[in-house]
Amino acid sequence: MIDPAWRDGDVQPITGELGAEISGVDLGADLDDATIAEIRQALLEHGVIFFRDQEFDAEQHKRLARRFGEIFVHPNYAGTQADPEIVMIRREPGDTRVVGEDWHTDTTMMPKPPMGAILYAIEVPPFGGDTLFANQYLAYETLSDGMKRLIDGLRAIHSDRLVAGPQSRASVGRSTKARHDDAWRETVSTHPMAIRHPETGRKALFVNVSYTVGIEGLAEDESRPLLDFLMEHGNRPEFTCRFRWTQGAVAFWDNRCVKHLAINDAGPFRRVMRRVQIA
Ligand code: SIN
Repeated sequence: MIDPAWRDGDVQPITGELGAEISGVDLGADLDDATIAEIRQALLEHGVIFFRDQEFDAEQHKRLARRFGEIFVHPNYAGTQADPEIVMIRREPGDTRVVGEDWHTDTTMMPKPPMGAILYAIEVPPFGGDTLFANQYLAYETLSDGMKRLIDGLRAIHSDRLVAGPQSRASVGRSTKARHDDAWRETVSTHPMAIRHPETGRKALFVNVSYTVGIEGLAEDESRPLLDFLMEHGNRPEFTCRFRWTQGAVAFWDNRCVKHLAINDAGPFRRVMRRVQIA
């Protein structure tokens, strides 16, 4: 089940600030509590963790996710996917867009956004299709004291109107369709612009391109420049890591302190991923 090397610390950081690759663990196995606790600890320390050469089916994928919390059912894929607990992210040859190609934190229109997601590579292109991640603790910590004071007192408005619903064109040119039917209803929530991570206690910047549409109490022409600055600032190269997928690879990110972006550069090739989100 678990290679003794794991306990010797087979956790290799992939950059100075974010991401580590872990070897010596079989995620398809029924892992013991100590191993799950170590994976959780690695996630908290590194923000996003990666595994290679894993082999597990959808049921094993869900079992793994449940060890970290309840499965989060994505409301905007309801009815478009065979299993509501799974989002299959398919990029077919000829697609012009992919799921998640703007910098985002997942599903922040919800009052309680998911804590994380486990993404598994089923079919990968021979080149391209990498995923970028950005450390939002650093994004917050590197702001000036004045900017921290300003955003500490503000809440941002998050909506799913840019990514789903009849008014959104997010699924055009994309094999993986979100809901765009007339019965869809917008979900809106507000969150502090800097959240405190419930497990690490560190503060993280919490705004993203896909869902953050405004700032409570500010006019659009006041909030837009501030949001644009913060979103750009949060993606500075030194805050990021980039993961090159191989078949059977897994990324597990902490959605409370990490943003991510899928790069749409896989040329004429298919890319198939299976994602389970954790509430
Ligand atoms: C996502 O945004 O969850 C998709 C990331 C990816 O496909 O690389």
